[in-house]
Formats: sequence, structure tokens, C-alpha cells
Amino acid sequence: MSDPVTLTRYDDVGLITIQSPPVNALGQAVRAGLLARLKDACNDPSIAVLVVTGAGRGFSAGADITEFDKPPQSPLLGEVIAAFEASARPTVAAIGGFALGGGLELALGIRYRIGFPGARLALPEVNLGLLPGSGGTQRLPRLIGADAALDMITSGRHVMADDALANGLVDAIADDLDEAIALARELASAGERPADWAEAPVAASNAPFEAYAERMKRRRRGFPAPMRCIEAVRAATRLPLKEGLAWERKAFAELKASPESKAQRYVFFAEREAARVKGISRDTPTRQVTHAAVVGAGTMGSGIALCLADAGLQVTVMESSEAALARGLARIESIYDAALAKGRMDKAERDRRLARVSGTVDMAAFANADLVIEAVFEDMAAKRNVFQRLDKICKTGAILATNTSTLDVNAIAMATGRPEDVLGMHFFSPANVMRLLEVVRGAQTADDVLATVMRFAGQIGKLPVCVGVCDGFVGNRMFMSRNQEALSLIEEGALPSQIDRVLTDWGMAMGAFAVMDLAGTDVGWRIRRAREAKRDKREPYPFTVADRLALAGRHGQKAGKGWYRYEPGSRTAIEDPEVTAMIEAVSREKRIQRREIGDDEVLRRCLWQLVNTGALLLEEGIAQRASDIDMIFLNGYGFPAFRGGPMYHADQTGLDRVLADIEAFHALHGERWRPAPLLRHLAEAGRDFADV
Ligand code: 3HC
Ligand code: NAI
Repeated sequence: MSDPVTLTRYDDVGLITIQSPPVNALGQAVRAGLLARLKDACNDPSIAVLVVTGAGRGFSAGADITEFDKPPQSPLLGEVIAAFEASARPTVAAIGGFALGGGLELALGIRYRIGFPGARLALPEVNLGLLPGSGGTQRLPRLIGADAALDMITSGRHVMADDALANGLVDAIADDLDEAIALARELASAGERPADWAEAPVAASNAPFEAYAERMKRRRRGFPAPMRCIEAVRAATRLPLKEGLAWERKAFAELKASPESKAQRYVFFAEREAARVKGISRDTPTRQVTHAAVVGAGTMGSGIALCLADAGLQVTVMESSEAALARGLARIESIYDAALAKGRMDKAERDRRLARVSGTVDMAAFANADLVIEAVFEDMAAKRNVFQRLDKICKTGAILATNTSTLDVNAIAMATGRPEDVLGMHFFSPANVMRLLEVVRGAQTADDVLATVMRFAGQIGKLPVCVGVCDGFVGNRMFMSRNQEALSLIEEGALPSQIDRVLTDWGMAMGAFAVMDLAGTDVGWRIRRAREAKRDKREPYPFTVADRLALAGRHGQKAGKGWYRYEPGSRTAIEDPEVTAMIEAVSREKRIQRREIGDDEVLRRCLWQLVNTGALLLEEGIAQRASDIDMIFLNGYGFPAFRGGPMYHADQTGLDRVLADIEAFHALHGERWRPAPLLRHLAEAGRDFADV
């Protein structure tokens, strides 16, 4: 293996280069290499200035996250940085690509920083449930002030080289390494750090610590790391560097051992794993997608068009009438106008994005589209009709996708003469905001079509997860099973407010009933009516209250009343005695003796329904791996990242315990709780979902 850190001489400049692909993570070998090369350089009297840089894609992506579950190995990153800080030679970091986490902390211990154009600098540890643990919380405020440091550390935001120059995070910008080396000589002659750098805490600061803490409590409910980040920056305003570093080291170790950080680190790798489709190699050729088209400009179609235009694509949107088209285009324009009004983009950007979207009522305009996404009504005949027409109009090689949420993608594909070019792209509402994309692989979808869409999804800022064809795919099928359980619980004695409180206290973004009110109680009711003929009448029917709400016009937030009541213009759910009376009446009619249901039972029944259904999906091959299911729930259903996801949570709980609960529920509540064979198999073998 080649040396992960090298030293090269350019006259009187010693260039230390980290070369540890793919991202120059600071694993043990790199840390040891940095120390060794620093020593070599300091022992070489002909070297007057030291420049540290990274080969390949960036300076460094920070600590090697895979090492966090192992005992720390010497030398620690903090020691390496201290050695650079104390170096006898002036030091300069030349940063291209990215300097993240420990990578930026290393650069902060180095006397001067030069950025290459486009370089991104960040302390993203908070996204891993951590705080910067090698001096970032103490050195960054000293360099750019407590306010700017608080912003960077609590958000993990990437700062571009130009902005870094403006706020003092970098001292200069260079176009290439030669220029950086020349600049390094100049900077080095400017002198060392001021004598009080280490001794004095950050100068009296107006940093709004309390305001930040309040904001984090609301926005990052359940995540311990953001609060610790704030405390750490505050420590920098009170303590000399040495003491601040000791404070930070202790807090980092505590967070690293926390279940929340372990879960967030799992999420980091699970997201990257989701991009891999079993059986499709990384070098599968992909098709070019530059011109996209969308059929239907309703809620989803207009959101999808926005998302594509945001990513820089030309999009043609087609509607069934001029009036519907005008409504769809107006919706797109109004969303850009709102972004402009909120200062999220300037007028020129709004105009640029809007100009990428064109409308038509004639599908012939799709003749040259590389990718068509269909988002018409959820009706098989309507969808098949659209695909038959697309088949006639679209060029050879065009990818034809459906956004259906429940229909059989294979049946839609068979409406064309090219089922190998068809697949599902299941966006979540609002499509321009939600990160999840279920990519539905049909029975005949070609490998290169799937590979293209997985890659394309990443390019438009989505997290793609490949799933198979079944009713509801992965997310909605699990979600429905959880909602059905919530509905059974209210017939037995719970109330919507109790269930929603339990779920949100546990970290879910919204409760089950609040979500039903947001989506509209009429939506589920219409689906149930359409499926009524096929329903197994021997199974309990927990939707009676839901049906009555829909029939009574209690359609949720849009009607001002649903499972809850809403004051005009407000989204705050207020418990409604009328709904309680309806629920109690249904329990009476079904001769169910209402009982007090403990919060713990509510939680376990809601969670284990998800997990049991997830196990079935794994077994059926609809989901490729348990971590994919977790990514679907985190990015599409408001599951808290600090819990890792339903399947991860079950593994952490112990599958034997989960199975015991499910067996008990099965005995009490019947068929819907039959344990998934895979769950039983794993629990009995002492294995986890992660092992599958
Ligand atoms: N440690 C270990 N592996 C890492 C890593 C890290 N810090 N950063 C990236 N990788 C791995 C990825 O897992 C991936 O591996 P794979 O190919 O086997 O899946 C590979 O490097 C490439 O990464 P991406 O697929 O993410 O490539 P991108 O080009 O999309 O993104 C990146 C590159 C912007 C560097 C992104 O990987 C990233 O944001 N990395 C994490 C940065 C981070 O969080 N750093 C802080 C670490 S914690 C720390 O430093 C603690 C310190 O304070 C003590
Ligand atoms: P919608 O009713 O808001 O929009 C459908 C649009 O399609 C209407 O504007 C209609 O005029 C247009 N349309 C109908 N037939 C057409 C045709 N032949 N040619 C061109 N346009 C036609 O419906 P929504 O909510 O946007 O749903 C669309 C699809 O997305 C459905 O398959 C739905 O299941 C799916 N979906 C919906 C989600 C949601 O939350 N609304 C989430 C994920 C998927």
C-alpha cells in the first residue's frame, strides 16, 4: 500500500500531501503519517515553510467514521493537530474540494489557510450526533467569532471558499497549487499567531446562545448534539484554549457513546448503501437525461416539475386541458414567487428556474424527452392510456416512469411495447421538498434504466431507494399497517391525542392522526371504497370512525376539522369532544369494552406493526435490505434520525423481545399480528435485521 501521507520539497517549501482515497479520511495510518512527515520536515533545515494539502477529491473529509466503534488508536487527531500548531516551521493549509470535520479542524490548527475555488469547508459532526472533537469548537470561534462559529457548528453547513475568505476562515484564494505555494511563502513571512490566541477566551461576544438553544430545542427535538455544540462554543468564550479543548474532548466522548450518535452514524452509511442495487454493478452503462417531461400538473406533477427545474433540467409539462395546464403552471410560479418573497432566491434565479418549465396539451411535444414521469389520477385505465400514447410518441431509449403510489407498475408497463424502459418513480409530497424517492423496479425493467434513474435521482437531490412491486411498495405498505393499528387502538380505548402525543414525544415528526388530517380523511375513504369489493370481510374493520369522519365532511385541515378541530388559518390540532363521542359510539356498537391503554403499549403496537410488515417486505424481496427500509422511513415519513429507523430500532431492542411482544399481540388481536417468518427465524437464531 502506498504511503497515505507524503512529503515533497519545492525549494524551501515542504509539501505534505494526504493521499488516502476516496476522501482522505483521517484514519490511524493517516494520523501517524501526518506526525511522521511533520517531524521529517522539521528535521530538514532547508525547509522554511510547510504546506499541507490533500490529493484527489479534497483536502480531507475528517475523522474516519468507521473507527468510531473501535477503541481509539494513537496518535489521536487532537495530538496531531497540537503538533502542527506547535510546529517550529510556519504552516499553511492548501484546501481544495472539501475540508470537513476533523479535516477542517486540522486546517484550523495550521497557521494559515488558502482555499482553491469551489472548496467547501464545514464542521458537519452535528449530523452524526457529535460535536467537533478535535478543537473545532474552540479554534473556530477564535478565528471567525462566536456568532459565525455557532452557525457553522450547529448547522453543519458547507461554507464556500469565497464566503470563507469574507469571514476570515481562509486567508487567501489560489487558483492552483503553484500559486498556493507562492502565497504560502508570503503568508508565512507575515508572522505567527498573536500571543493571546491560546490564552484569552473568545473576546466578549454578543452571541445569542439562549436564542440558539431555544431554536435547537424546537427544531432538533430529541437530538442531544446541537445543544452540546452551543455549550461548547460558549465554553470557548469563557475558557483558555487548553481548558476549552479538554471540555470539548470530554463532551465528544460522551456524545460518541450515545445511542443517538450511533444511530446517526448508521444512517450515514445506510444512505450510501441505499444507492447500491443488488445485481447491478457500478459500471452498468447509464442513459443521458437532459430533457425531462411530466404528464399531469396536479399536486405531484407540478412538484416534480419544480424539482427537475430546480436541478437545472428543461421540463415540459403536459395537461389534459388548457385550463388545467394554466392552473399547474400558476402553481409552479406561485411556489417560486413564495421562495422569492421569503428571500430564498433572487429574482434572476426565480426567472431562470421558471424559464426551464414549459407547458403543452399535446403529448407530441415529448418526442425528444429522455425521461417522462407520469403523474395523472390514480386510476389504472387512465395510466395505461397515457403509457400507450407515450409508447407511440417517445423516442427509442426514452425512460418512462410512473409516480403511482398503489397501482401495479408491471401492468402499467405492459400497456407499452417496451416494458424494459418502464419503472416507478414514487415521489413524496411535496415532491420538490421531500428527499425520498422510491424507485420501483418492474419485472422487466432493464438494468441500465434502473441504474440511470438511481443516478439521476441523486443528481436532482433525492435519496433513491430501490423497491419491488407490491401494493403500497415499502413505505406506504408499512405506514398503512401502522395507521391501521392506531385506528384499532382508538376503538379499544385510546384517543387520537394520546397516540399522537406518544409518537411525537418519541421523536416522530407528526402523529398518526395529525398526518391523516393533513392528507385529508377523504383520500383514504375513497381508496377504501374503491377496494371494498376485494376486502376480506372476516377480518376486523378498524376504519369505521375514519369513514364516518369523511362522510361527515370532516376532511381534515383543509375543512377546519377532521380527527381534530382547527381554528381558521391555524394548523394547531385541538381535541374535539365530538370526535371522542363518535369514537366511543363505535366502540359501543362493536361491543368493545374500552380500557385505559398505557403509552408503552401504544408505542410498541405502532412500532412493531412497522417492523413486522418490514420483515415481510424483506422476505418477499420487495425491500433489498433493512437499512433501505430505515432510509425510507427517515426521509419520507418523519421517523427521527436519532432512532436510526424502525428496523434498526428493533435490532437495538433485541429481536427476541420484539418477537415476544408480537406473539402476545397475535394471541390477543389476531391475524394482522402473525409474526413474519423472517423475524421469527432471526430472533431464534440470535441474529439481527442488519445481518440479512
Ligand atoms: N469516514 C469514513 N468514510 C467516509 C468518510 C469519513 N469521514 N466520508 C466519506 N466516507 C466514505 C463514504 O462512506 C463512501 O464510501 P463508499 O464508497 O464505500 O460508500 C466514500 O467515502 C465516498 O463518500 P460519498 O459517497 O459520500 O461521496 P460524495 O462525493 O457524495 O461526498 C463527502 C463526499 C462530501 C466527503 C461526504 O462523504 C461527506 O460528507 N463525508 C462525511 C464528512 C463528515 O461528516 N466528516 C466529519 C467526520 S466526524 C469528525 O471529523 C470528528 C472530528 O471532529 C473528531
Ligand atoms: P391530482 O389530482 O392533484 O393531479 C392529477 C393531474 O393529472 C390533474 O391535474 C389532471 O388534470 C391531470 N391529468 C389527468 N389525466 C391526464 C391526462 N390524460 N393527461 C394529462 N394530464 C392528466 O393528483 P396528484 O395528487 O398529483 O396524484 C397524481 C399521482 O401521484 C397519482 O398516481 C397519485 O397516486 C400519485 N401520488 C400522489 C401523492 C400525493 O400525496 N398526492 C404522493 C405520491 C404519489
